Amino acid sequence: MRGLTSLLAVSLPILTLAAKEPFGRIKNLITFGDSYTDISLASFPLWPIYASEYAGISFMDFARAGATCSNALTPRTFPGVVEDEIPAFLNATKNGKSLKADETLFTLWIGTNDVGVGELITGQANAGVSIVNTSVCAVEWVSRMHAFGARNFLFQNMIPLNLVPLYQANSYPNKYWDEQRNTTEWNVFMKELVASGNMLTELMLANLAPTLRDSNICVFDSHGLFTDIVANPTVYLNGTLPLNTTGASSACVFQLNEDTSGPSDCTIHLGAASDSFVWFDELHPTEQSQRIVAREITKAVNGTSTRWLKCFS
Ligand SMILES: *[C@@H]1O[C@H](CO)[C@@H](O)[C@H](O)[C@H]1NC(C)=O
Ligand SMILES: *[C@@H]1O[C@H](CO)[C@@H](O)[C@H](O)[C@H]1NC(C)=O
Ligand SMILES: *[C@@H]1O[C@H](CO)[C@@H](O)[C@H](O)[C@H]1NC(C)=O
Ligand SMILES: *[C@@H]1O[C@H](CO)[C@@H](O)[C@H](O)[C@H]1NC(C)=O
Ligand SMILES: *[C@@H]1O[C@H](CO)[C@@H](O)[C@H](O)[C@H]1NC(C)=O
Ligand SMILES: *[C@@H]1O[C@H](CO)[C@@H](O)[C@H](O)[C@H]1NC(C)=O
Repeated sequence: MRGLTSLLAVSLPILTLAAKEPFGRIKNLITFGDSYTDISLASFPLWPIYASEYAGISFMDFARAGATCSNALTPRTFPGVVEDEIPAFLNATKNGKSLKADETLFTLWIGTNDVGVGELITGQANAGVSIVNTSVCAVEWVSRMHAFGARNFLFQNMIPLNLVPLYQANSYPNKYWDEQRNTTEWNVFMKELVASGNMLTELMLANLAPTLRDSNICVFDSHGLFTDIVANPTVYLNGTLPLNTTGASSACVFQLNEDTSGPSDCTIHLGAASDSFVWFDELHPTEQSQRIVAREITKAVNGTSTRWLKCFS
């Protein structure tokens, strides 16, 4: 008894520090989203690969580069989560029946293309469609997947897109947008879109969570994480160049209305040098930022840290 008491006294502080695994023991990761998550077209490994390695779990990636939540809202020549990714998941998993729900975590990181160039920020979504509709669509992914048996959900909110080179106030013509624009207005508008969308999805998820049987629903605060990376880069970045939170490691300055196949003025840093940057190109995080996402998600899922995690059920 005496031995047990002293053992408890020693281990108690550790026990109170360690959070419990918010989803229980996870063995598979099923990812949905856009180019931030689509490993098939990326020029370096993205977070699902690193998370699966860090956590020692398997994964299946249904994210597609260029995706928005739905082409019925934000029409593009790219796949949509609703039209393409969910059907591909259903096809690959016998409508979800080939997975064990209690050991599988479903993630969605979407919104960047919904609010971005060619869609909400340039007024090209379908008539009557706003940030409200794209946010509703993203949250509906949870209820749709729940109906197919999914129970564990990690909803990754939008990063501070006003900080990526494409949407900075002092942005330059680039491969994503080389037409005339007011970069100050884009920067202000993007900040509003992201803040509104993230708050809408959080509030709707909080509302939805109690209505979905046996579910664990959490938000991973990508917005908070990337804000912190930009504010405190020495904590996160480890490349061989001076740390750079504003520029892209592969930056290409276009002329106005330059043909995308035409010449452009590029500065490219690869490998160890690129680990000094938050941004890879004018829209995407670097491999080091992706590793950080994987590390922080792994810590959230394995119960080591709740810093970027907010759970509603
Ligand atoms: C459905 O899955 C099979 C193999 O599992 C694959 O060959 C086929 O291309 C898939 N179809 C679609 C529409 O994803
Ligand atoms: C978009 O949301 C508005 C409410 O903000 C709603 O009236 C409208 O029907 C929605 N449109 C679509 C296409 O879902
Ligand atoms: C761009 O927009 C900002 C904010 O609305 C405005 O102050 C500025 O005058 C605009 N610049 C040009 C060149 O129109
Ligand atoms: C950051 O990177 C950009 C793009 O390569 C470059 O133009 C800028 O000077 C860099 N900033 C610093 C502080 O090194
Ligand atoms: C930076 O850290 C990551 C681990 O987070 C490591 O894989 C990478 O090799 C490091 N980069 C450099 C240039 O040391
Ligand atoms: C949780 O994940 C972090 C980040 O990958 C790792 O360092 C840590 O060892 C993991 N803890 C457990 C209990 O798996």
